[in-house]
Amino acid sequence: MSQGVFITVEGGEGAGKSTQLALLENYLTELGIDLLRTREPGGVPSAEIVRELLIHGDGDRWSPLTETLLHFAARHEHVSRLIRPAIAEGKWVLCDRFADSTTAYQGYAQDIDHDVISNLYEIAVGDIKPNLTIILDLPVEIGLERARARKSGGMRYESMGIEFHQRLREGFLQIADQEAERCVVIDGNQPVDKISKDIIVLIDQRFNPRRA
Ligand code: TMP
Repeated sequence: MSQGVFITVEGGEGAGKSTQLALLENYLTELGIDLLRTREPGGVPSAEIVRELLIHGDGDRWSPLTETLLHFAARHEHVSRLIRPAIAEGKWVLCDRFADSTTAYQGYAQDIDHDVISNLYEIAVGDIKPNLTIILDLPVEIGLERARARKSGGMRYESMGIEFHQRLREGFLQIADQEAERCVVIDGNQPVDKISKDIIVLIDQRFNPRRA
């Protein structure tokens, strides 16, 4: 049985990841692709419990290192119980955020050393790595406005200062620069349909799902 495809979508607050993932899921499902859509932090019941700890409460509820460890604890549950088996079965996995969020939020925005993050990746995730990461980029002010208007879920990260969000936007762009093969930046400040078309063209070029 052939290995599955692992695609992650990343971006700051209000970038439109969930909308785009739902549209991509529809497209691939109509082509008959066996897929799983999931998210981080969370994705399995144990990791969803950790998610609750992370997205609610004051901004300084956790030290940045504790926060990093919690994200990797949740990720280990998610990868070992859901993502790894799904990929081994040949499924496509579409994931709303993955380890690049830790590099951007806890690394670039909260100053956790990048070596700490890559060591934890090795321990908690091992050899699983996204085949493609789509980074939806848009100005911080626009994203935050959208996220606040939506008022869904936890507001903990949204409540952090504007500089925090600027650093994490820069962080995502740096990750994309450093891993240009894996990461593609798409302008998230465009109509939903246009972004969705850009993503579908990209997926068709990279993976040819019509033949999968
Ligand atoms: P969401 O709002 O996209 O569902 O993500 C929940 C929050 O968790 C979001 O504000 C970003 C944050 N986050 C991190 O800080 N580090 C991580 O590793 C992940 C996966 C999410």
